[in-house]
Amino acid sequence: MTDRILITGGAGFIGANIAAALIAEQQAEVVIVDDFSSGDWRNLIHVDCEVRAADADDPAILEEIADGGFKAVFHEAAITDTTVMDQRLMMEVNTNAFANILEASDYSGTRVVYASSAGTYGNSPAPNQIGSGEIPENIYGFSKLAMDRVAARWYGQHSAPIIGLRYFNVYGPGEHHKNERDGNKTASMMLQLYQRAKSGQPLRLFKYGEQMRDFVYIRDVIGANLAALSASESGVCNVGSGLARSFNDVVSILGNSLNQSFDIEYFDNPFTFYQNHTQADLTETKRLLNWQPEWSLEKGMSDYVKLLETGHRGPALTV
Ligand SMILES: NC(=O)c1ccc[n+]([C@@H]2O[C@H](COP(=O)([O-])OP(=O)(O)OC[C@H]3O[C@@H](n4cnc5c(N)ncnc54)[C@H](O)[C@@H]3O)[C@@H](O)[C@H]2O)c1
Repeated sequence: MTDRILITGGAGFIGANIAAALIAEQQAEVVIVDDFSSGDWRNLIHVDCEVRAADADDPAILEEIADGGFKAVFHEAAITDTTVMDQRLMMEVNTNAFANILEASDYSGTRVVYASSAGTYGNSPAPNQIGSGEIPENIYGFSKLAMDRVAARWYGQHSAPIIGLRYFNVYGPGEHHKNERDGNKTASMMLQLYQRAKSGQPLRLFKYGEQMRDFVYIRDVIGANLAALSASESGVCNVGSGLARSFNDVVSILGNSLNQSFDIEYFDNPFTFYQNHTQADLTETKRLLNWQPEWSLEKGMSDYVKLLETGHRGPALTV
Protein backbone atom coordinates (compact mmCIF):
# COMPACT_ATOMS: atom_id res chain seq x y z
CA MET A 1 0.00 0.00 0.00
CA THR A 2 1.04 3.57 -0.72
CA ASP A 3 2.45 5.89 1.93
CA ARG A 4 0.36 8.81 0.73
CA ILE A 5 -1.68 10.41 3.48
CA LEU A 6 -4.85 12.46 2.93
CA ILE A 7 -5.64 15.44 5.13
CA THR A 8 -9.09 17.00 4.78
CA GLY A 9 -9.24 20.62 5.97
CA GLY A 10 -5.48 20.80 5.50
CA ALA A 11 -5.46 24.56 4.82
CA GLY A 12 -6.82 25.12 8.32
CA PHE A 13 -5.04 25.53 11.63
CA ILE A 14 -4.75 21.92 12.80
CA GLY A 15 -4.72 20.26 9.36
CA ALA A 16 -1.81 22.39 8.13
CA ASN A 17 0.13 21.62 11.31
CA ILE A 18 -0.41 17.88 10.85
CA ALA A 19 0.64 18.18 7.20
CA ALA A 20 3.85 20.05 8.06
CA ALA A 21 4.69 17.52 10.78
CA LEU A 22 4.09 14.49 8.55
CA ILE A 23 6.36 15.93 5.90
CA ALA A 24 9.08 17.10 8.32
CA GLU A 25 9.14 14.12 10.69
CA GLN A 26 7.93 11.16 8.66
CA GLN A 27 8.79 12.20 5.10
CA ALA A 28 5.24 11.22 4.14
CA GLU A 29 3.66 12.22 0.84
CA VAL A 30 0.71 14.41 1.80
CA VAL A 31 -2.41 15.26 -0.20
CA ILE A 32 -4.65 18.04 1.12
CA VAL A 33 -8.29 18.54 0.22
CA ASP A 34 -9.89 21.76 1.41
CA ASP A 35 -12.80 23.89 0.21
CA PHE A 36 -11.05 27.03 1.56
CA SER A 37 -14.25 28.14 3.31
CA SER A 38 -12.33 29.03 6.47
CA GLY A 39 -8.75 27.85 5.82
CA ASP A 40 -5.97 29.96 4.40
CA TRP A 41 -3.48 29.32 1.59
CA ARG A 42 -0.82 31.15 3.61
CA ASN A 43 -0.72 28.18 5.98
CA LEU A 44 0.62 26.09 3.10
CA ILE A 45 3.32 28.35 1.68
CA HIS A 46 6.06 26.25 3.29
CA VAL A 47 4.18 22.92 3.22
CA ASP A 48 5.22 21.15 0.04
CA CYS A 49 2.33 18.85 -0.89
CA GLU A 50 -0.48 18.34 -3.38
CA VAL A 51 -3.44 20.64 -2.65
CA ARG A 52 -6.90 20.13 -4.08
CA ALA A 53 -9.76 22.59 -3.71
CA ALA A 54 -12.85 20.44 -3.19
CA ASP A 55 -15.30 19.17 -0.59
CA ALA A 56 -13.91 16.65 1.86
CA ASP A 57 -16.33 14.05 0.47
CA ASP A 58 -15.93 14.98 -3.18
CA PRO A 59 -16.81 11.84 -5.23
CA ALA A 60 -13.33 11.67 -6.80
CA ILE A 61 -11.72 11.78 -3.33
CA LEU A 62 -14.06 9.09 -1.99
CA GLU A 63 -13.22 6.87 -4.95
CA GLU A 64 -9.52 7.31 -4.35
CA ILE A 65 -9.94 6.44 -0.66
CA ALA A 66 -12.01 3.35 -1.56
CA ASP A 67 -9.36 2.29 -4.10
CA GLY A 68 -6.64 2.31 -1.42
CA GLY A 69 -4.96 5.50 -2.62
CA PHE A 70 -4.03 6.54 0.93
CA LYS A 71 -2.37 4.84 3.88
CA ALA A 72 -4.45 6.96 6.28
CA VAL A 73 -6.91 9.84 6.33
CA PHE A 74 -6.76 12.70 8.83
CA HIS A 75 -10.22 14.23 8.69
CA GLU A 76 -10.06 17.82 10.00
CA ALA A 77 -12.49 19.54 7.59
CA ALA A 78 -15.51 21.03 9.32
CA ILE A 79 -17.49 24.18 9.94
CA THR A 80 -15.41 25.33 12.89
CA ASP A 81 -17.24 28.53 13.77
CA THR A 82 -19.23 27.37 16.79
CA THR A 83 -21.66 30.30 16.48
CA VAL A 84 -23.06 29.04 13.13
CA MET A 85 -26.69 28.13 13.84
CA ASP A 86 -27.79 26.60 10.52
CA GLN A 87 -28.48 23.07 11.75
CA ARG A 88 -28.83 21.34 8.40
CA LEU A 89 -25.69 22.92 7.00
CA MET A 90 -23.67 22.02 10.12
CA MET A 91 -24.82 18.40 10.01
CA GLU A 92 -24.22 18.06 6.26
CA VAL A 93 -20.72 19.48 6.36
CA ASN A 94 -19.54 17.96 9.63
CA THR A 95 -21.41 14.69 10.07
CA ASN A 96 -22.59 13.49 6.65
CA ALA A 97 -19.23 14.02 4.97
CA PHE A 98 -17.53 12.02 7.71
CA ALA A 99 -20.00 9.14 7.30
CA ASN A 100 -19.16 9.07 3.58
CA ILE A 101 -15.42 8.96 4.31
CA LEU A 102 -15.85 6.05 6.74
CA GLU A 103 -17.82 4.09 4.18
CA ALA A 104 -15.22 4.67 1.46
CA SER A 105 -12.31 3.80 3.77
CA ASP A 106 -13.91 0.49 4.74
CA TYR A 107 -13.49 -0.77 1.16
CA SER A 108 -9.72 -0.34 1.29
CA GLY A 109 -8.92 -0.88 4.98
CA THR A 110 -7.77 2.72 5.35
CA ARG A 111 -7.23 4.09 8.86
CA VAL A 112 -9.22 7.24 9.66
CA VAL A 113 -8.18 9.69 12.37
CA TYR A 114 -10.80 12.42 12.80
CA ALA A 115 -11.37 15.64 14.74
CA SER A 116 -14.07 15.51 17.37
CA SER A 117 -14.40 18.19 20.04
CA ALA A 118 -14.74 19.01 23.71
CA GLY A 119 -17.91 20.77 22.52
CA THR A 120 -19.54 17.33 22.84
CA TYR A 121 -19.52 17.83 26.65
CA GLY A 122 -21.29 21.21 26.71
CA ASN A 123 -21.43 22.48 30.29
CA SER A 124 -21.29 19.10 32.01
CA PRO A 125 -19.14 18.99 35.16
CA ALA A 126 -15.38 18.65 34.61
CA PRO A 127 -13.21 16.62 34.38
CA ASN A 128 -14.77 15.54 31.10
CA GLN A 129 -14.71 11.83 30.62
CA ILE A 130 -15.49 9.76 27.52
CA GLY A 131 -18.97 8.25 27.84
CA SER A 132 -20.34 10.65 30.45
CA GLY A 133 -21.89 14.14 30.35
CA GLU A 134 -22.04 14.17 26.55
CA ILE A 135 -24.63 16.94 26.39
CA PRO A 136 -23.61 19.53 23.77
CA GLU A 137 -24.89 23.08 24.09
CA ASN A 138 -24.99 23.94 20.38
CA ILE A 139 -25.36 22.41 16.92
CA TYR A 140 -21.59 22.40 16.41
CA GLY A 141 -21.08 20.22 19.51
CA PHE A 142 -23.97 18.00 18.46
CA SER A 143 -22.52 17.53 14.95
CA LYS A 144 -19.29 16.28 16.57
CA LEU A 145 -21.14 13.95 18.97
CA ALA A 146 -23.07 12.63 15.95
CA MET A 147 -19.70 11.93 14.26
CA ASP A 148 -18.54 9.94 17.29
CA ARG A 149 -21.77 7.93 17.13
CA VAL A 150 -21.38 7.27 13.39
CA ALA A 151 -17.85 6.03 14.12
CA ALA A 152 -18.99 3.86 17.06
CA ARG A 153 -21.43 2.01 14.79
CA TRP A 154 -18.45 0.94 12.70
CA TYR A 155 -16.32 -0.25 15.65
CA GLY A 156 -15.48 -3.93 15.27
CA GLN A 157 -16.81 -3.97 11.70
CA HIS A 158 -14.61 -1.47 9.90
CA SER A 159 -11.60 -2.91 8.09
CA ALA A 160 -9.17 -0.51 9.86
CA PRO A 161 -9.06 1.45 13.13
CA ILE A 162 -11.11 4.66 13.39
CA ILE A 163 -9.68 7.06 15.98
CA GLY A 164 -11.63 10.11 17.20
CA LEU A 165 -9.77 12.92 18.95
CA ARG A 166 -11.82 15.29 21.09
CA TYR A 167 -9.68 18.41 20.99
CA PHE A 168 -10.09 20.89 23.84
CA ASN A 169 -9.06 24.56 23.32
CA VAL A 170 -6.18 24.40 20.86
CA TYR A 171 -3.74 27.32 20.51
CA GLY A 172 -0.54 27.88 18.57
CA PRO A 173 0.99 28.90 15.24
CA GLY A 174 -1.20 28.53 12.15
CA GLU A 175 -4.38 30.11 13.51
CA HIS A 176 -4.04 33.73 12.29
CA HIS A 177 -6.75 33.25 9.63
CA LYS A 178 -9.31 32.65 12.36
CA ASN A 179 -9.01 36.28 13.43
CA GLU A 180 -9.15 37.63 9.90
CA ARG A 181 -12.50 36.47 8.63
CA ASP A 182 -15.56 38.75 8.52
CA GLY A 183 -17.45 39.16 11.76
CA ASN A 184 -16.30 36.48 14.14
CA LYS A 185 -12.87 36.18 15.66
CA THR A 186 -12.41 32.50 16.47
CA ALA A 187 -8.66 32.21 17.10
CA SER A 188 -7.52 31.22 20.58
CA MET A 189 -7.53 33.82 23.36
CA MET A 190 -3.74 33.57 23.29
CA LEU A 191 -3.57 35.11 19.82
CA GLN A 192 -6.44 37.55 20.39
CA LEU A 193 -4.89 38.91 23.60
CA TYR A 194 -1.40 39.01 22.06
CA GLN A 195 -2.66 41.06 19.11
CA ARG A 196 -4.46 43.52 21.36
CA ALA A 197 -1.40 43.84 23.58
CA LYS A 198 0.80 44.58 20.58
CA SER A 199 -1.60 47.24 19.28
CA GLY A 200 -1.63 48.91 22.71
CA GLN A 201 -5.34 48.29 23.31
CA PRO A 202 -6.65 47.16 26.70
CA LEU A 203 -7.16 43.40 26.94
CA ARG A 204 -10.81 42.35 27.01
CA LEU A 205 -12.20 39.35 28.91
CA PHE A 206 -15.67 38.14 29.82
CA LYS A 207 -16.46 39.03 33.46
CA TYR A 208 -14.31 38.26 35.49
CA GLY A 209 -11.83 36.12 33.61
CA GLU A 210 -12.35 33.19 35.97
CA GLN A 211 -13.81 30.74 33.45
CA MET A 212 -11.63 27.63 33.29
CA ARG A 213 -10.58 25.89 30.11
CA ASP A 214 -8.29 23.05 29.18
CA PHE A 215 -5.89 24.80 26.77
CA VAL A 216 -3.81 22.44 24.65
CA TYR A 217 -0.78 23.48 22.61
CA ILE A 218 -0.71 22.62 18.91
CA ARG A 219 2.52 20.63 19.30
CA ASP A 220 0.66 18.26 21.63
CA VAL A 221 -2.24 18.03 19.16
CA ILE A 222 0.26 17.05 16.46
CA GLY A 223 1.72 14.45 18.84
CA ALA A 224 -1.70 12.92 19.51
CA ASN A 225 -2.46 12.70 15.79
CA LEU A 226 0.86 11.01 15.01
CA ALA A 227 0.28 8.58 17.89
CA ALA A 228 -3.13 7.74 16.42
CA LEU A 229 -1.35 6.33 13.35
CA SER A 230 -0.16 3.43 15.56
CA ALA A 231 -3.31 2.87 17.67
CA SER A 232 -4.29 -0.77 17.38
CA GLU A 233 -8.03 -0.40 17.93
CA SER A 234 -10.89 2.00 17.23
CA GLY A 235 -12.11 4.49 19.81
CA VAL A 236 -12.53 8.11 20.79
CA CYS A 237 -10.43 9.98 23.35
CA ASN A 238 -9.79 13.45 24.73
CA VAL A 239 -6.88 15.58 23.54
CA GLY A 240 -6.17 18.24 26.13
CA SER A 241 -3.49 19.19 28.63
CA GLY A 242 -5.40 17.46 31.42
CA LEU A 243 -5.55 20.71 33.42
CA ALA A 244 -8.08 23.56 33.60
CA ARG A 245 -6.68 27.10 33.66
CA SER A 246 -8.43 30.48 33.83
CA PHE A 247 -8.39 33.30 31.27
CA ASN A 248 -6.79 35.44 34.00
CA ASP A 249 -3.93 32.87 34.03
CA VAL A 250 -3.54 33.34 30.28
CA VAL A 251 -3.23 37.12 30.72
CA SER A 252 -0.69 36.75 33.48
CA ILE A 253 1.48 34.29 31.48
CA LEU A 254 1.27 36.59 28.45
CA GLY A 255 2.45 39.47 30.66
CA ASN A 256 5.42 37.39 31.84
CA SER A 257 6.31 36.34 28.28
CA LEU A 258 6.19 39.93 27.00
CA ASN A 259 7.52 41.46 30.21
CA GLN A 260 4.55 43.81 30.23
CA SER A 261 1.55 44.55 32.47
CA PHE A 262 -1.94 45.16 31.10
CA ASP A 263 -5.20 46.99 31.70
CA ILE A 264 -8.07 44.53 31.53
CA GLU A 265 -11.62 45.46 30.52
CA TYR A 266 -14.11 42.91 31.83
CA PHE A 267 -17.43 42.81 29.97
CA ASP A 268 -20.65 40.75 30.02
CA ASN A 269 -20.52 37.46 28.13
CA PRO A 270 -23.02 37.83 25.25
CA PHE A 271 -23.33 34.08 24.60
CA THR A 272 -26.28 32.10 25.95
CA PHE A 273 -24.21 28.92 25.59
CA TYR A 274 -20.67 28.99 26.91
CA GLN A 275 -18.41 26.35 28.39
CA ASN A 276 -17.44 27.69 31.83
CA HIS A 277 -15.18 24.84 32.89
CA THR A 278 -13.57 22.17 30.73
CA GLN A 279 -10.84 19.74 31.66
CA ALA A 280 -9.84 16.62 29.75
CA ASP A 281 -9.76 13.33 31.58
CA LEU A 282 -6.86 11.55 29.86
CA THR A 283 -7.40 7.97 31.06
CA GLU A 284 -8.78 6.74 27.74
CA THR A 285 -6.24 8.85 25.80
CA LYS A 286 -3.30 7.08 27.45
CA ARG A 287 -4.86 3.68 26.86
CA LEU A 288 -5.86 4.18 23.22
CA LEU A 289 -2.92 6.28 21.99
CA ASN A 290 -0.18 5.40 24.49
CA TRP A 291 0.46 9.15 24.48
CA GLN A 292 0.33 12.03 26.94
CA PRO A 293 0.71 15.81 26.64
CA GLU A 294 4.09 17.45 27.21
CA TRP A 295 3.32 21.17 26.98
CA SER A 296 2.19 23.07 30.09
CA LEU A 297 0.38 26.37 29.51
CA GLU A 298 3.50 28.26 30.60
CA LYS A 299 5.78 26.32 28.25
CA GLY A 300 3.33 26.36 25.32
CA MET A 301 2.59 30.08 25.56
CA SER A 302 6.26 30.93 25.88
CA ASP A 303 7.04 28.93 22.71
CA TYR A 304 4.09 30.52 20.88
CA VAL A 305 4.89 34.09 21.91
CA LYS A 306 8.52 33.64 20.83
CA LEU A 307 7.31 32.57 17.37
CA LEU A 308 4.80 35.43 17.18
CA GLU A 309 7.52 37.90 18.09
CA THR A 310 9.50 36.79 15.02
CA GLY A 311 6.45 37.50 12.83
CA HIS A 312 5.94 33.79 12.17
CA ARG A 313 2.57 32.67 10.84
CA GLY A 314 1.78 29.22 9.48
CA PRO A 315 2.29 25.80 11.05
CA ALA A 316 4.77 25.14 13.87
CA LEU A 317 6.99 22.67 12.06
CA THR A 318 7.71 24.92 9.09
CA VAL A 319 9.91 27.09 11.31
N1 LIG B 1 -9.07 24.61 17.07
C1 LIG B 1 -9.70 24.07 18.10
O1 LIG B 1 -9.55 24.54 19.25
C2 LIG B 1 -10.58 22.87 17.91
C3 LIG B 1 -11.22 22.33 19.04
C4 LIG B 1 -12.05 21.22 18.89
C5 LIG B 1 -12.21 20.65 17.64
N2 LIG B 1 -11.61 21.20 16.56
C6 LIG B 1 -11.83 20.54 15.25
O2 LIG B 1 -10.57 20.38 14.62
C7 LIG B 1 -10.74 20.44 13.19
C8 LIG B 1 -9.79 21.48 12.62
O3 LIG B 1 -10.13 22.76 13.17
P1 LIG B 1 -9.23 24.04 12.97
O4 LIG B 1 -9.09 24.67 14.30
O5 LIG B 1 -8.02 23.68 12.21
O6 LIG B 1 -10.20 24.96 12.12
P2 LIG B 1 -9.99 25.69 10.69
O7 LIG B 1 -11.25 26.44 10.43
O8 LIG B 1 -8.71 26.44 10.69
O9 LIG B 1 -9.85 24.45 9.70
C9 LIG B 1 -10.94 23.78 9.11
C10 LIG B 1 -10.61 23.58 7.64
O10 LIG B 1 -11.65 22.81 7.02
C11 LIG B 1 -11.95 23.40 5.74
N3 LIG B 1 -13.31 22.98 5.37
C12 LIG B 1 -14.48 23.36 5.93
N4 LIG B 1 -15.49 22.71 5.33
C13 LIG B 1 -14.97 21.92 4.37
C14 LIG B 1 -15.51 21.01 3.41
N5 LIG B 1 -16.82 20.78 3.34
N6 LIG B 1 -14.65 20.36 2.59
C15 LIG B 1 -13.30 20.58 2.65
N7 LIG B 1 -12.75 21.43 3.53
C16 LIG B 1 -13.56 22.09 4.39
C17 LIG B 1 -11.77 24.89 5.97
O11 LIG B 1 -11.57 25.64 4.79
C18 LIG B 1 -10.53 24.91 6.88
O12 LIG B 1 -9.33 24.93 6.12
C19 LIG B 1 -12.21 20.76 12.96
O13 LIG B 1 -12.89 19.55 12.66
C20 LIG B 1 -12.66 21.34 14.27
O14 LIG B 1 -14.04 21.15 14.48
C21 LIG B 1 -10.79 22.29 16.67
